[in-house]
Amino acid sequence: MSTYTSIALLSTSLATVAYAQNAHLTNDNGTPVGDNQNSQTAGPEGPVLLQDSHLIEKLQRFDRERIPERVVHARGTGAFGVFQPTANISDLTKAVVFTPGTQTPVFVRFSTVMGYRGSPEEARDPRGFAVKFYTQQGNWDIVGINWPIFFIRDAIKFPDFVHANKPSAVTGVQDPNLAFDFFAHSPEATNMLTELYTDEGMPDSYRHMDGYGVHAFKFVNANGQVHYVKFHWKSEQGIHGIRPQDIAAAIGKDWNLNTNDLYAAIRKGDYPKWDLYIQVLEPQDLDKFNFDALDDTKVWTGVPEREIGTLTLNRVPDNYFETTEEVAFAPSRLVPGIEPSEDRMLQGRLFAYADTQMYRLGANYQSLPINRPLVSVTNDNQDGKMNGGDRKGETNYEPSGIDEVAEDPGAKAVRTTLVGTTQQQAIAKTRDFMQAGEYYRSLSAQDKADLILALSTDLNRVTDESNKYTMVSYFYKADADYGTRLAEATHTDVGRVKAMAAKLVD
Ligand code: HEM
Repeated sequence: MSTYTSIALLSTSLATVAYAQNAHLTNDNGTPVGDNQNSQTAGPEGPVLLQDSHLIEKLQRFDRERIPERVVHARGTGAFGVFQPTANISDLTKAVVFTPGTQTPVFVRFSTVMGYRGSPEEARDPRGFAVKFYTQQGNWDIVGINWPIFFIRDAIKFPDFVHANKPSAVTGVQDPNLAFDFFAHSPEATNMLTELYTDEGMPDSYRHMDGYGVHAFKFVNANGQVHYVKFHWKSEQGIHGIRPQDIAAAIGKDWNLNTNDLYAAIRKGDYPKWDLYIQVLEPQDLDKFNFDALDDTKVWTGVPEREIGTLTLNRVPDNYFETTEEVAFAPSRLVPGIEPSEDRMLQGRLFAYADTQMYRLGANYQSLPINRPLVSVTNDNQDGKMNGGDRKGETNYEPSGIDEVAEDPGAKAVRTTLVGTTQQQAIAKTRDFMQAGEYYRSLSAQDKADLILALSTDLNRVTDESNKYTMVSYFYKADADYGTRLAEATHTDVGRVKAMAAKLVD
């Protein structure tokens, strides 16, 4: 049963009038409900009356309960917590969230990517790991996943990637034929696919996975110096996935197992923790790799990590819709001292999230309680559907001699030198297969065996022979042992696979 008092009203002159709280059922306008079990009818046999405004409001509100689900990451689980810095990194960034001694409240949402809102949590899918920091300088979001890389490197391919991996436009059922048709024509996905089909592609708990920001961001210090950084949340609980042969039993036992596990741990005071690590590069070092350092299908090999903070989840939300469903994360939500890099995927994401959220939640979604910053919001944005922002005053424009609010020069974007002309061209150092091979060779014997089993199971569902061979040739190009074992498991001719791989350029 919900009881609420309008926050907007409290701040108006009406708030000077204080009534006692209702102890009975009310309509949405606060009037008492007389009978919540029987509709008003025209006599004992007659139809229901239009004048029964309680019934009509109740049905109307029910009819409007669903909002559009997220276009991706629809199935999710949220929790509140706190972030504390553990190192002084003022040499790298002026962001106050990293000032030693600061405690910043956070909301975290874990998710799967392709499933519908009520879909099973155990799916072969990346896991979303999105963190909203309610900082003293406004909200900052790291909208990441449980791996350091992604499938594609240019935002222009994202809608196609999602269409191919979501349930089929005809059957409404996910189909590896469509997914691998896309991947057979997107060799840059080879690295991420290799990670996806390890046991980490099926975490047995949201507590048992790491998180990554994936893209590079820029840290800017008080002197305007720039460093490129990547974020990594390391689970203090360790990493643990489900082996391919155990997946069916796990799903059969509980298809909400990740939410149930997370909430049970938090409720009993066993608060999960992640330590935040960063990799740091000087701008001039971006070019020192044999791959593009701003390509999100790559990890920064050989760059040491340093620990800078700890995240603790300590509270289960008491309303799913008003938190986990209405929360709106966006990579564009950055604070002074943290800026986007030129990564082509990130650049597309900077637009897409706020855009979808204005559609999914409405123009005023940032004033919803879960999205509202803990600092005051001062600007001339106004009106729009469901506005409860409570802005005051007549000068809803700038500049103004009557009521000008000062800007913060410390929040100005850092200057970046640009070269070249406008263009539409692939990046130069694609290296689509190299890191997939390095990753494969780093796996234990058991992890390699699990990867071959899980990946070949899906590849064996691909009926298009050309796509199947192309896929196996990509993995062969990454590592000959990897490709040979997959060829065996997918009943493809290893000689033909090898010949195809030889024609690929890495
Ligand atoms: C250009 C590429 C991408 C586009 C256009 C895109 C777009 C979207 C959109 C539209 C949503 C739904 C947001 C909402 O309704 O609130 C979403 C959710 C999400 N995306 Fe992406 N995405 C992209 C790439 C990525 C990448 C590379 C990552 C990981 C680093 C990622 C992680 C997430 C996460 C974690 C969520 C769920 C946030 C939540 O829990 O509410 N996305 N994405």
